[in-house]
Amino acid sequence: PALSCAELKALVRTVPDFPAPGIQFRDITTLIADGPGLAATIAHLAGRVEASGADMVAGMEARGFIFGAAVAARLGIGFLPVRKPGKLPVETMGVDYALEYGADRLEIDPGAVRDGARIALVDDLIATGGTACASAALLRKAGAVVDHAFFVIDLPDLGGAQRLRAEDIGVDALMDFEGD
Ligand code: PRP
Ligand code: MG
Repeated sequence: PALSCAELKALVRTVPDFPAPGIQFRDITTLIADGPGLAATIAHLAGRVEASGADMVAGMEARGFIFGAAVAARLGIGFLPVRKPGKLPVETMGVDYALEYGADRLEIDPGAVRDGARIALVDDLIATGGTACASAALLRKAGAVVDHAFFVIDLPDLGGAQRLRAEDIGVDALMDFEGD
């Protein structure tokens, strides 16, 4: 890729006190608005997903769609959307989970999961790991093998990567923001 992960990190905007006082929000809007930045982000993620041997990518609505589908297309493998509730037109499989700021629910179309498929999770950011853990549990329940998860940003202070590793899921991120 033309840009290093350190150069990509410089394209992420930090917004203080959003969505609550004291929170430093790491915003990918500026990263994806930059053409070379977006291209290099996808290239870095795709290289890692390919090396993991995954044969499908799952991305979590909404920001995981931005990166997950682009990575899957680049590798010529399928993309599975992990959706917020009430969006899919079929009988879904769902899971309720706690989010960094509240609670939510995720749903998939179990028919999109080939039994034994090796599905890599892709999302923009891992904080508490609630979203990724819930997604992994859902995909596993639907018959997938989930052993790798890839993020643009890791917030290690919030413990999400450790939580995923405890579920035997390897975690890889292009950058982390630690200690603030
Ligand atoms: C954000 C982010 C990750 C998740 C990380 O999604 O995009 O998916 O939180 O937090 P966690 O590790 O504590 O679960 P969010 O649902 O807030 O919004 P989005 O629809 O913009 O992706
Ligand atoms: Mg999200």
